Amino acid sequence: MAKPIIVANWKDRPASAGEARMLLAQIGKRRELLKRTTLFIAPPSPYLLLTQEKASGFSRLAVQNIEILPSGRHTGTLSVEMLKNFGVKLSILGHSERRALGETDEEVSRKVGLALKSGITPLICVGEQARDSEGLYLEEISISLRASLKGVKKKEAEKIVIAYEPVWAIGKRAQDSMSPEDLREMILFLRRILSDMYDRKIAQKIVLLYGGSVEPANAEALYHSSDISGFLVGHASLDAEKFIKIAEAIIK
Ligand code: PGA
Repeated sequence: MAKPIIVANWKDRPASAGEARMLLAQIGKRRELLKRTTLFIAPPSPYLLLTQEKASGFSRLAVQNIEILPSGRHTGTLSVEMLKNFGVKLSILGHSERRALGETDEEVSRKVGLALKSGITPLICVGEQARDSEGLYLEEISISLRASLKGVKKKEAEKIVIAYEPVWAIGKRAQDSMSPEDLREMILFLRRILSDMYDRKIAQKIVLLYGGSVEPANAEALYHSSDISGFLVGHASLDAEKFIKIAEAIIK
């Protein structure tokens, strides 16, 4: 069976390189355990080198965004080519916290295209803002997913990874997050859309992750609720003890 995938989304934390170094050293003590997962660490840019130096033995390097611009003379940006050459393997794209700053599905789809072209795996985040009793949120997700993947051809579709991240469940405690039953339904729904966009066989092969308050308390139940391949972990990835417990819960 494939190893569970864990993507550690550090967001804009920790505040100092010393703390980042300590976090990497703490999780590195459990490298044998972590090697039983496919672990991606997405630190803020100033810690990319540090993460590569300290964690390449048990993780792969990821970023939280890429620029929409192809390489050229663009002050203040990091080119996707540079990231690729540096060793970045995956980029989170369309995270709700970036969408909240104005990023559109159209921009996400262009970034997905750039990532695919450069050989960086695009991890596309989709999820509803809130739930409603009429199920309008399902339409919201369907529109966003289709638009974010616009331009991904059938033969490329297996190279993408999708993270279902309901916005209302991000940054909470495990008990206020998604229930395993609801996650199961959502994963079926997402596969249905992918099947409609590509075909059933491809839809089954696309890697789906869940993100939104994954903590030691809910990791095992969420992981086994459906055919997700793993998690996108935010706040708990900055706490070595919690992070290791999440890994332990899903490799059991
Ligand atoms: P969280 O963040 O685990 O803190 O909810 C997940 C994310 O935003 O990717």
